[in-house]
Amino acid sequence: MYITDYITGTVIQGLGNGRKFGFPTANVQPDAPVSIEKGAYAAWVRYDGKRHKGMLYVGTRPTLNLHGLTYEIHIIDASPRLYGKQIAFKPVYKIAEEKKFKCQEELINALLKYKRSAKVLLTPAWSIHLNPTLFHIKEIMEIIEQAKRRMKERGLDQWQDGYPDEATIRNDKRKHQGHYFLKWHEPAAYAAIVFDKDPYYEKIDGQWLSDGVPYIAVHRLAVADKFLGLDMARHVLKFAERKARSKGVQWFRIDTHHDNLPMRNLIRDFGFTFCGVVQVRDGKRMAYEKRVADNA
Ligand SMILES: Cc1cc2nc3c(=O)[nH]c(=O)nc-3n(C[C@H](O)[C@H](O)[C@H](O)COP(=O)(O)O)c2cc1C
Repeated sequence: MYITDYITGTVIQGLGNGRKFGFPTANVQPDAPVSIEKGAYAAWVRYDGKRHKGMLYVGTRPTLNLHGLTYEIHIIDASPRLYGKQIAFKPVYKIAEEKKFKCQEELINALLKYKRSAKVLLTPAWSIHLNPTLFHIKEIMEIIEQAKRRMKERGLDQWQDGYPDEATIRNDKRKHQGHYFLKWHEPAAYAAIVFDKDPYYEKIDGQWLSDGVPYIAVHRLAVADKFLGLDMARHVLKFAERKARSKGVQWFRIDTHHDNLPMRNLIRDFGFTFCGVVQVRDGKRMAYEKRVADNA
């Protein structure tokens, strides 16, 4: 299961048991029907215009001998008053299946454990391999295949013609621009961070912000299914921006498919300006540029 967008809902009155044992939860009535497997999840939660770390529970609370399905959210590191508010949440990682605990102590102990896991899961912990080895290339191709599958499922025609293939990744390696990202020692993301001028960016139906000065570009950014929703793509962009800054490069260019909304949202949130449309090997792409942040 992966969920790319936030689920919205209203916080309704719960039974208030959670507050008594130290895990206050907001009971959410989703705006539209949702289908999430029962269980406990690390989740991002948005309210009052900000994003917070949280946990989501989907289940019937068997420990309390209750039956109705509820969506409950516990906010980590804050106890906001949310009753009656609009809230949005995005489960990102399943921590545990629903259980009928023997007693309340057992439930509380489990919740303490889940909370520790959720905190770790929502905090990026990285290691990065520059110039992936041959062994890594297999894993990178698997990440790329997963991204291709998701694009296909969403009806996108991006990356549906074989590109990027193994030869492209080997070429990235040769040019020292391939970056393979692990999280908790598992394959998580891949990106080519390119310092060469991109021939496809020479002609634009629009106007770049910068002209002719050195820039970096991120291509072939792909995230493994398992790590979706954990901000991997944003961290890859941050990493690239820091790299640009360390080399004194002031401009950052990127492009994406018109229908790739998650990527377009990320690019916009990251401070890029839409500059126009470029023609790449298999079609038109929306092209963006930003000045590399001073504190990247
Ligand atoms: C992350 C999380 C996981 C939970 N997992 C379970 C579970 O496996 N079984 C269960 O009976 N209740 C589980 N609970 C639900 C608690 O029973 C629930 O929060 C408590 O009953 C308070 O509900 P109330 O505020 O509506 O009274 C979980 C709650 C959270 C926040």
